Amino acid sequence: MYKGVLFDLDGVLIDTARYHYQAWQALAKQLQIPFTEQDNERLKGVSRVASLDILLGLDKTGRTYTEDDKAQFLQVKNDHYLSYIKHLTAADILPGVIEALTFLKTENIRIGLGSASKNAPFILDKTGLSAYFDAVIDGNMVTQAKPHPAVFLLGAEALRLIPSECLVVEDSEAGCQAAVHAGMAVIGIGEREHLPSADKVVASMRSFKKVIIFN
Ligand code: BG6
Ligand code: MG
Repeated sequence: MYKGVLFDLDGVLIDTARYHYQAWQALAKQLQIPFTEQDNERLKGVSRVASLDILLGLDKTGRTYTEDDKAQFLQVKNDHYLSYIKHLTAADILPGVIEALTFLKTENIRIGLGSASKNAPFILDKTGLSAYFDAVIDGNMVTQAKPHPAVFLLGAEALRLIPSECLVVEDSEAGCQAAVHAGMAVIGIGEREHLPSADKVVASMRSFKKVIIFN
């Protein structure tokens, strides 16, 4: 069994992935850029700044954007997002998550967070999840976005483990690639077609215990 598990936050522990999508969608509408759920898959797990570049890349009108424009767009997106997440409570924790964290605690397996989000501390606080974590690495602490492995390598270090002792749990392909680049095993949460780099894929955190027990 692994000595540590590094969890992604958005879409794994909390149902915030849909709020990110809605906030990007609102910005895309304002800019009149076509943006579908399929396009959104490419934004999952990716940092705020890298996500904006992907979104603006969908603009086929030839418009150009200054750095000031981009800073303003990032503010608009985050304001939308904050208006959605300010109401988060423990009721928004995804099914199976508390059971999984409790199981890891009883097995003395260290628990870390490896998230690209700068809002991660706020979300952990609102939902009461902070108490479960031995280490938290978030978007305020890393500059290289997933699929770069930085967030997970820092996470392993903070847990005082080596990469091969850690398991990553992710709902994005960028995050699964980051885990692979870090030399860690990775469980994908979602659908296999969206997570080709995951070692195993399960539909939700409800199946976490069953999967980890056999490793
Ligand atoms: C990741 C999400 O966890 O965090 C992305 O999957 C998001 O969708 C990224 O863009 C950055 O989050 P935030 O909260 O700093 O804008
Ligand atoms: Mg995620």
